[in-house]
Amino acid sequence: MYIHVMGSGAGGGFPQWNCNCVNCKGVREGTIKATPRTQSSIAVSANGEDWVLFNTSPDIKKQMDDFPAMQPGRAVRDTAICAIVIVDAQIDHSTGILMLREHTAPWDVYCTEAVHGDLTTGFPVFNILEHFRGVNWHEIKTDQSSFTIPKAEGLVFTAVPLKSEAPPYSPHRHNTVPGDNIGVKIEDTRTGKVLFYAPGLGVVEDHVIDYMTNSDCILVDGTVWTDDEMSNEGISDKRAQEMGHLDQSSAGGIMDIMSGMDRPRKILIHINNTNPILNEESPQRKALNDAGIEVSYDGMDIEL
Ligand code: MLT
Ligand code: MN
Ligand code: ZN
Repeated sequence: MYIHVMGSGAGGGFPQWNCNCVNCKGVREGTIKATPRTQSSIAVSANGEDWVLFNTSPDIKKQMDDFPAMQPGRAVRDTAICAIVIVDAQIDHSTGILMLREHTAPWDVYCTEAVHGDLTTGFPVFNILEHFRGVNWHEIKTDQSSFTIPKAEGLVFTAVPLKSEAPPYSPHRHNTVPGDNIGVKIEDTRTGKVLFYAPGLGVVEDHVIDYMTNSDCILVDGTVWTDDEMSNEGISDKRAQEMGHLDQSSAGGIMDIMSGMDRPRKILIHINNTNPILNEESPQRKALNDAGIEVSYDGMDIEL
């Protein structure tokens, strides 16, 4: 299985357009060792030709321009994306589908009923696409039954319901229903290798720990180092937990949870621009390195 990190940043990307936090200012001015990041998305393929896109970031055009495999050039209009999976209805994960409106056929989109609901009401991007080629919606069930995608031969997917938060325009913002957020287990049937992808984890429940422990690679929520890091810099009054993201550094945080896991390669994704781990020379980044945890970057390729 081939995994390509299209975008490793959280909502807003890095640097964020209006942000002068230590990191955003530092990367803009070149005073810290850090790399810009686009917003959260990965692509996965068994054969290196047909790719399933996970989430459609507002930055998708740059992400595709930077990844030649996305444009195989077999016809006058072409793409290597064979289907789209959307794990939550947040802006950073769903807006980019509007940038894909020139597709020559309806997009095969896989998402839960809860996400489909938000993307046809509070943030009705699917309705807007009906004025172009439309969306061929495939419902993802939240009962952990596995599913396949016809054009993505050799991959089996399992949606794992997660506790996080729904978007601000969702009727279940802080009163979530199963399917507002999912992680996805992706298994390559030829190699037997397993990836677990979960860019938004508010609470890591036991069933999620089981999926993580039994994977060869985990790409999980790396949004914040501390729960109050956004309010610390006077950026927002929101705690990460209110936005559905568990921090890395506290007791019971993401680092703690991953530290006991031997099998998977452990990688963080969806990293917010306030997170000190973005500074490659920071003590926080060193602590992650010492714990055997990697930080994904745009364009990162992983082969399982
Ligand atoms: C999130 O992951 O919590 C959202 O993407 C935040 C946002 O888009 O503002
Ligand atoms: Mn996000
Ligand atoms: Zn910032």
